[in-house]
Amino acid sequence: MKRPHPVLMALIVTAIAVAAAGVLFQDRISDGFRANSLRPDDPRTVALGGEIYRRECAACHGEKLEGQPAWRQRLANGRLPAPPHDETGHTWHHSDGQLFDLTKYGPAVLAGGGYQSDMPAYEDILGDDEIIAVLSFIKSRWPRAVRNRHDRLNAQEAR
Ligand code: HEC
Repeated sequence: MKRPHPVLMALIVTAIAVAAAGVLFQDRISDGFRANSLRPDDPRTVALGGEIYRRECAACHGEKLEGQPAWRQRLANGRLPAPPHDETGHTWHHSDGQLFDLTKYGPAVLAGGGYQSDMPAYEDILGDDEIIAVLSFIKSRWPRAVRNRHDRLNAQEAR
């Protein structure tokens, strides 16, 4: 049998590697997660989420979701302080799916390119249901108008 041309072989190997990386990357993002999965109107989910929030998130994002002082200014180490999760921050600018990924994989993984963040990934700390619970708690604290806007954002993404 005639051996394939080495350049052709190299191209084929590269194409396979790129395809495999694509599949792996896809797998990490939003696995098993649908838009509109947060349940801010379900009292049990919100109660569980409140406990998780106080235990895991409040130290940085604030007991009252107020974030760290001067959260828009970078720290001396070039990283960002923790933003508020209440309506004065931009948490509600992200869809359910994005919030889930940010919490599960951490901002550094999602941003890529060696981006440094003080926020840890919760992949090995919280289960998917616990991540949904804590985000449901956060959403339950937003005023009705902000929640409605967030619902519309999710609806747009689901289309
Ligand atoms: C050690 C501090 C720390 C802890 C603990 C922490 N965060 Fe963060 N979080 C941050 C920082 C800092 C940012 C800003 C992200 C960046 O570096 O760009 C952030 C950003 C976020 C964002 C993106 C918000 C936006 O407006 O873009 C979400 C969502 C988030 N955190 C959720 C959580 C949740 C939920 C928990 C608890 C389960 C948590 N965080 C615990 C420090 C923390």
